[in-house]
Amino acid sequence: MKAGSLDFFSPGLYELSMSGQKKAVFLDRDGTIIENSGCIGSIDEVIMFTEAFDALKRLQNHYELFVVTNQSGIGKGFNTAEEVAAVNAFIDSVLRDNGIIIKEWYVCPHDSPDNCECKKPKPYFLNKARDEYGIDLKSSWVIGDHPHDIEFAENGGAKGLYVLTGHGVRHLDELPPDVQVFHNLTEAAARILGSGNESKDNNYCSIEEAANFLRSGGLVAFPTETVYGLGADVFNPGAAARIFELKGRPLFNPLIAHISDMEMLDRLVSDIGETALRLAEAFWPGPLTIVFNKRESVPDIVTGGSPTVAVRMPSHPMALELIRRAGTAVAAPSANAFGRTSPTTAAHVVEQLGSLGYKIIDGGACRVGVESTVLSLVHEQPMLLRPGGLAAEDIEKITGPLALAEKPQIKGLESPGMLASHYSPLTPFVLKNPPAEANDDEKTGLLLFEPAEIESAGPVEILSRRGSTEDAAVNLYAAMRRLDRLGLERIIAYRLPERGLGKAVNDRMKKAATPAEPSA
Ligand code: TXA
Ligand code: MG
Repeated sequence: MKAGSLDFFSPGLYELSMSGQKKAVFLDRDGTIIENSGCIGSIDEVIMFTEAFDALKRLQNHYELFVVTNQSGIGKGFNTAEEVAAVNAFIDSVLRDNGIIIKEWYVCPHDSPDNCECKKPKPYFLNKARDEYGIDLKSSWVIGDHPHDIEFAENGGAKGLYVLTGHGVRHLDELPPDVQVFHNLTEAAARILGSGNESKDNNYCSIEEAANFLRSGGLVAFPTETVYGLGADVFNPGAAARIFELKGRPLFNPLIAHISDMEMLDRLVSDIGETALRLAEAFWPGPLTIVFNKRESVPDIVTGGSPTVAVRMPSHPMALELIRRAGTAVAAPSANAFGRTSPTTAAHVVEQLGSLGYKIIDGGACRVGVESTVLSLVHEQPMLLRPGGLAAEDIEKITGPLALAEKPQIKGLESPGMLASHYSPLTPFVLKNPPAEANDDEKTGLLLFEPAEIESAGPVEILSRRGSTEDAAVNLYAAMRRLDRLGLERIIAYRLPERGLGKAVNDRMKKAATPAEPSA
């Protein structure tokens, strides 16, 4: 698959339809506008994503809407073309009742696998829409939950956005790193409409603008694979100070220096050491932060006065490109208000920090979804300071057994991210051990690891439909936020098994559950 250029996603570009032709959004059906429930042969099996209707209505003010759906069940004999047509007609009528008009339904039955109409790399249906309706594909978008959807978008010259609903979270590993990912259709639609960059303060910007702004002492919120960061030039103490101000973060809590190559590490750290080199080789770029003894030149404000500095090379292509273009390491904590849930989309950042005092790059949803693992190499034995996006088991394959940091006190913390309360939703949050119990209170929301056979009168969020701790990490903060917005009286969350990223997710849920510490 061709990797698109990064500035391709600069907000505002889609507005330019050079030819003045009509623009379209091509929607995948299963997993994007309805739940992916296998080969659906009857309308009883349809679960519509009704919460996305408003977004579709906003989209159709600017774009023609098409559905493109590959129904391989027909080719395989699981259902018939007639059944699929009846299901599509039903979905179409529900959309219509809600004021949403689909211009045309394109269905490929996949009945001749070697010579299918839709077969890659032919963007068959996109070309059909171009020819039949005069659609300008260059100003059009495809939204889908499978890497194929992105591939045929690119082959047709359109832009592809990937959603984590349906099978999206399952195929995330197969997706090229520069494809933008969204938690659901609503978020993807907002990205297309550039809702953020129409905000009156217009703080959304391209990577190049952001890099210039960083160099001149400005603050930039940017996507990483874990969560969004709020960054400043690491060697500009005044700029770093403004991060603490904007977040309302206590000054003793040090920042992570984000680098794009090993030369930048040299400028921060004098003695890198064998273990760090092996860890960097194995896990950078990626969700691992390493604490080193710092060089004199690294400002105290970045390290909270400590002689050590935390460094990470993120893997998000937009983060790497930003740091590269800025030409300096970028000091950044997560871009949340202090003590609140870490943001995994640009909209989450603006929700918490407002839109003044910094610029922001919109890179969609974060693929890992929890913060990096923090590992200190300044002691004799490597020490795990914060479980995170890289499983401790993976690190131990290289380092041998890790020491665990002592339970922290507020003063003299080994790593202040270990403060008991952090990552909090506003709704009271209760953490329990599984199995999940039935809930008869509609003011109580449930946050479950995996599907459970229980009744609930209130809303339920499921972190992974297949019991994967990685899926759970990707979905955790977005699910917490969705529940948090419903005006509930409490959220009951259930612990994950402690394997893989389960430890990191449990750690964040535990912090969300503890009453807030007075912020010293
Ligand atoms: O995934 C992440 O790590 C994200 C993205 C933006 O990179 N960043 C993040 O930053 O979560 P923040 O500031 O929210 O958490 C940084 C953690 C804190 O627990 C902090 O105390 C610890 O790293 N840390 C930073 N510098 C340290 C140091 N010199 N010694 C020990 N811990 C340090
Ligand atoms: Mg944070």
